[in-house]
Amino acid sequence: MTLRKICGLSSSLVCHRRFLHDTKARSSRVFSGVQPTGNLHLGNYFGAIQRWVELQETDKELIFCIVDLHSLTVPQRRADLSANITRLTAGLLACGIDPERATLFLQSAVPQHTQLGWVLSCLTTMPRLGQLPQYREKAAEHGEVPLGLYLYPVLQAADILLYSQEQTEVPVGQDQLQNIQLAQHLGKAFNRQFGKLFPHPKAVVDEDAGGRVRSLRDPSRKMSKSDPDSRSCVYLNDPPERIRSKLKLALTDFTSEVFASPERPAVTALMTLHALAAGLTLEGVRSAAAGLTTAQYKLLLADVLAERLAPVRDAWARLEAEPRYLSQVLERGRQRAAEEAEVTWRAVVDRVQLRLS
Ligand code: AMP
Ligand code: TRP
Repeated sequence: MTLRKICGLSSSLVCHRRFLHDTKARSSRVFSGVQPTGNLHLGNYFGAIQRWVELQETDKELIFCIVDLHSLTVPQRRADLSANITRLTAGLLACGIDPERATLFLQSAVPQHTQLGWVLSCLTTMPRLGQLPQYREKAAEHGEVPLGLYLYPVLQAADILLYSQEQTEVPVGQDQLQNIQLAQHLGKAFNRQFGKLFPHPKAVVDEDAGGRVRSLRDPSRKMSKSDPDSRSCVYLNDPPERIRSKLKLALTDFTSEVFASPERPAVTALMTLHALAAGLTLEGVRSAAAGLTTAQYKLLLADVLAERLAPVRDAWARLEAEPRYLSQVLERGRQRAAEEAEVTWRAVVDRVQLRLS
């Protein structure tokens, strides 16, 4: 928490405020969100989660939010949502997110997200939200567009602004950039209308990461949770035999030698995946594949992926069998996040002149 936030508050609150993960000692904060839909795949791992885990080696304060309210914008069965939350929590921990080091919590458990979302929704316009490319893409799939889909980026802005400090970084894929710009705009609009409160959150986009891992069935598309063909994705908890059968079906081309080139997007995509999984350059992958046909190479790559994922899969299975532990992790995260969210929300209430009683 910054002094900025302490200022508008009563001294007793300040005295009793315990600093979220001792933020005074940390250089900056990182906030990001992930939806509990579908299953985690290699694209999620190499494009996002691996970087979150690496950030734990820095002195930044880390807050990761499982954004279950966002996932309601596509129809969910109640049982699926609850199971997906458990599975995602276990999956993130299995990948190496350390609850001692990072705050991991569930969005719906901190009601200030939706409360702030409402205030922010009054500061933007329908044309502005209607222009956002993600909305336009998703809206095209519906006859009548659910209101939640429209408001989605406002809720995302609330997620971010509730925890924003001077140096808050928001690591996201390229497709999220405009949503972060909306959060920046809404923070400024609030400050202009009600008095300075929100600092400027910074989007951190790893240019190469967003779509680096391609679909196994079509290299022109990124590996994606929403792909109806599950053979296009290697999920982080796929057993070795499933990885093998998916790799056998992976697209290559008519040249059986293994080398990367722009004219060979499918083989290049497999080699890129190999490079990421084994920590090699493309040249290193080419040497590892020397003398193999593409069919043989796909089996080698299946082995590399199975070996790389084995510890994640084992840890994931162990963690999923411990729902009470997972609930405790989320509860601890909720307590930390709620403390911070409440401070921001009280400052909002104060600026807007809402009344709590
Ligand atoms: P999504 O699965 O679309 O909710 O994406 C969550 C995050 O995973 C995104 O912000 C991306 O950074 C990352 N991601 C998803 N798919 C890929 C992919 N195919 N290649 C690399 N990164 C990806
Ligand atoms: N919209 C993001 C996605 O689909 C998820 C998200 C929700 C998010 N709130 C966030 C990401 C806040 C970063 C910060 O991937």
